[in-house]
Amino acid sequence: MGNIITVEREKCLKDGLCVADCPLNILTQDKDGYPVPVENADKVCIDCGHCVAVCPSGALDQRKMAVADCVPLKKELEISAEQMEQYLCARRSIRRYLQKPVEDKKIEKLLAIAGYAPSGHNVQPTKWLVINDANEVRKMAGLVADWLRWMIEDQPEFAKMLHMDKVLAAWDKGKDLILRNAPHLLVAYAPKNERTAPAAIVSAIAYIEIAAPALGLGTCWAGYFSRACQTFKPLLKALCMPEGHAVYGAVMIGYPDAEYHRIPARKDPDLIWH
Ligand SMILES: Cc1cc2nc3c(=O)[nH]c(=O)nc-3n(C[C@H](O)[C@H](O)[C@H](O)COP(=O)(O)O)c2cc1C
Repeated sequence: MGNIITVEREKCLKDGLCVADCPLNILTQDKDGYPVPVENADKVCIDCGHCVAVCPSGALDQRKMAVADCVPLKKELEISAEQMEQYLCARRSIRRYLQKPVEDKKIEKLLAIAGYAPSGHNVQPTKWLVINDANEVRKMAGLVADWLRWMIEDQPEFAKMLHMDKVLAAWDKGKDLILRNAPHLLVAYAPKNERTAPAAIVSAIAYIEIAAPALGLGTCWAGYFSRACQTFKPLLKALCMPEGHAVYGAVMIGYPDAEYHRIPARKDPDLIWH
């Protein structure tokens, strides 16, 4: 059995916090109070790192992460409830972008942060395709326009409901309501039939949308693009989507050419208390 945890006995407080926090319940305390894995724990462990994160004395390494590699939390970086509320509610979908490229480092930073979004069983299934060149993004928008044209013919009712006719008419007049002249597009994909992918990718994209404004960036879900990726072969071919994989979502990103001065109203929560 591989060692899923290594405990530094001099540091261990024998407080049982790692045991209590383990989501799969695969740690126990030995007769001296030190944490030890239960039988077959190595086959069940999801490598979530809770045991390392929860240990106040940093006494425990996990098989995939040494405590020394896990960033300590800084109290002074905590934000107030008021700051959190304004920050979250002030995020807007950005549909006007400066024609200025985003630095690769910023995109890499955002994708690394998105890796912290929750995923079922910590599978972390999300893979990214970064369309980094504005001309390539326009090419993708053009392919989505071809798909819209086909949809309007093939499924007129559905196309009308999603305003596809208007989006296509605008495209034909030179206005891009598909990918909004964004300089970059982040495409999230995963193996087909990966059970955890739809929720994980929505979550990962939400992280990106939330994190972006702190880096001076704006984002917008690419809904028409994502939908077209479900069925439109020429688009998948242009993306060079690897065999056996599917697109589960995509988000435009760039420096915003828009500034907001207030928070628009939203519906009150539709709520039943049980
Ligand atoms: C799944 C999904 C798909 C979306 N697709 C598009 C899109 O294709 N084009 C667009 O301009 N906005 C798109 N949006 C953005 C929504 O219109 C936007 O979130 C909503 O109007 C609320 O505005 P806010 O994000 O600024 O609060 C999409 C949002 C979601 C969640």
